[in-house]
Amino acid sequence: MEQASACLHLNFAALAKFKTKQAEACSTDTGIFIALNMASELIIAIDGPVGSGKSTVARRVAELLGYTHLDSGAMYRAVGWKALIENIPLDSPGKLAALASRVRIDLVALDGKQRVILDGEDITDRIRTTEVSHAASVAAVVPGVRHPMVEEQRRAGEQGGVVMEGRDIGSVVFPHADLKIYLDASPEVRAGRRWQELREKGEGADPQTVLAGVHERDRRDRERKMSPLVRAADAVLVDNSAMDAEETARVIVLLAREKSKAAAG
Ligand code: DC
Repeated sequence: MEQASACLHLNFAALAKFKTKQAEACSTDTGIFIALNMASELIIAIDGPVGSGKSTVARRVAELLGYTHLDSGAMYRAVGWKALIENIPLDSPGKLAALASRVRIDLVALDGKQRVILDGEDITDRIRTTEVSHAASVAAVVPGVRHPMVEEQRRAGEQGGVVMEGRDIGSVVFPHADLKIYLDASPEVRAGRRWQELREKGEGADPQTVLAGVHERDRRDRERKMSPLVRAADAVLVDNSAMDAEETARVIVLLAREKSKAAAG
């Protein structure tokens, strides 16, 4: 089987527009493009459960700091989407792992937003359905799926200047991240946000069903054997049940500035 880690690609070439202090390195043998940042730029890990607002908050934090935003969940969603398209049984870890090692995923920053390109096809707008959420969360428990993803996430973020969000960023991907945030909100608030999102997409849903779905995904994320969702011991808990995304992002930016100052001595 082809080496899994060589098949996933994070393409940050388009980031030049909104990042000021960067050079680009291109490894031609793997085709992987990684943005290199100044050593003083931080690795910020934001973890938290579904509906905690990670994506909006992480994107805004990155924008405020001029950093790269990387949504690691999009990689698991891409694998889940492809599994559904190819009718790969979700109860076959081996087939899911084989799939993860053969697909090419490009995360491309375009106008400050991350696009997800799978085998050359832009699937950004197709991976946010309830069906794909389910497939992604099933795929994400498979070690053979997680390994290549984690490898690429590390490669993409190791130079700093990155806000990476997910479930295991502070605990597994970057245990030495400069700043770790564990973002949370009550299940009811999180389900309410998810319900609103679905409504805006024209997908009607029963609030109780959405809440049950949130509990189910929490359970799967927290109880899986490999890289479960946990608050790292040194992560700052930010409960944003009563805060909007902008307030939450600004709190995190303040914490990041403190860290930068401390690092500068
Ligand atoms: O954040 P999200 O809902 O887009 O993530 C999709 C799925 O991937 C979700 O079930 C959790 C999983 N995931 C993970 O296991 N590890 C990550 N670092 C990010 C997401």
